[in-house]
Amino acid sequence: VPKCLPKQVLSNQLQPRASFKVAVLGAAGGIGQPLGLLIKMSPLVSSLHLYDIANVKGVAADLSHCNSPAQVLDFTGQSELANCLKGVDVVVIPAGVPRKPGMTRDDLFNINAGIVKTLVEAVADNCPDAFIHIISNPVNSTVPIAAEVLKQKGVYNPKKLFGVTTLDVVRANTFVGQKKNLKIVDVDVPVVGGHAGITILPLLSKTSPSVTFTDEEVGELTERIQNAGTEVVEAKAGAGSATLSMAYAAAQFVESSLHALNGEEDVYECSFVQSELTELPFFASRVKLGKKGIEAVISDDLHGLTEYEAKALEALKAELKASIEKGVAFVHKQA
Ligand code: NAI
Repeated sequence: VPKCLPKQVLSNQLQPRASFKVAVLGAAGGIGQPLGLLIKMSPLVSSLHLYDIANVKGVAADLSHCNSPAQVLDFTGQSELANCLKGVDVVVIPAGVPRKPGMTRDDLFNINAGIVKTLVEAVADNCPDAFIHIISNPVNSTVPIAAEVLKQKGVYNPKKLFGVTTLDVVRANTFVGQKKNLKIVDVDVPVVGGHAGITILPLLSKTSPSVTFTDEEVGELTERIQNAGTEVVEAKAGAGSATLSMAYAAAQFVESSLHALNGEEDVYECSFVQSELTELPFFASRVKLGKKGIEAVISDDLHGLTEYEAKALEALKAELKASIEKGVAFVHKQA
């Protein structure tokens, strides 16, 4: 089974030429700042475009002093958004409000749905061919929103629209590695479904390297992975949600996308994408990335599930379906 491992090592070995342009929308935020730093460190990036509605000038000035190849440019406010996006290969969107204690990701819908809609309209107008990475929550709804906006603009390419669920995989790998005393960088747990509560389904039976769990361990680990975001929200006690681990995960997804765009083989990541794996129109699973986006949605992981996983898969479908439909309805209500 192909692995979702960081490609940093690979990129250092190959010493590829820096030639890709990446834009971050929401670049002055809790995620945007460390994400900008990690992307600035990529040897594949020639140009890093940072956009926010406020405070982005300082972030860009600061990052621009790092002696890595990427040129850093800042863009503030709606009037500069088009210029930020022109010629960009990958657009990452962490713009929007994060959770506070007691909130679900869906509680963010009212604010973030509109932000994502506006930003994706600009993406459609200025860089319709780019890979689009949606981080803003609720991902289960914001990705369908993005798809509808792109369809309305006549430029929807389902192979290039991604909901970023890498953090669920990162967390699963960490928690399983710790629990089973495995060498952490070797652990790979596919996480499927969506990106909220019970829709986050780690397939522990498909863990690589192969490892066995008691029923109790499966229950505990699954719940911890599903609630890991809330663990951080509560620890931060009102100061936001995961930002550093999220930036780490998003940077991994960007790096993998750039390797794919660079023509490298065997690039796999989990992501929430348009999918035919289940009866739901969007579903997170492992995907194979290539120059043109998704080359294959990997179905292997859904075969031979344990009884626990099969039940959990059925149980998540109603919530995921409702979140997808809420996103689609939002765009049509506004039209
Ligand atoms: P933050 O509040 O620290 O930063 C958000 C940034 O977005 C701010 O700088 C703000 O000025 C900017 N922004 C707001 N409206 C904008 C607009 N119209 N255009 C451009 N920028 C705009 O929030 P944080 O912690 O960075 O989180 C951002 C989003 O990421 C939240 O929706 C959060 O729920 C989500 N998230 C997603 C995760 C995932 O696994 N997919 C994990 C953690 C957070």
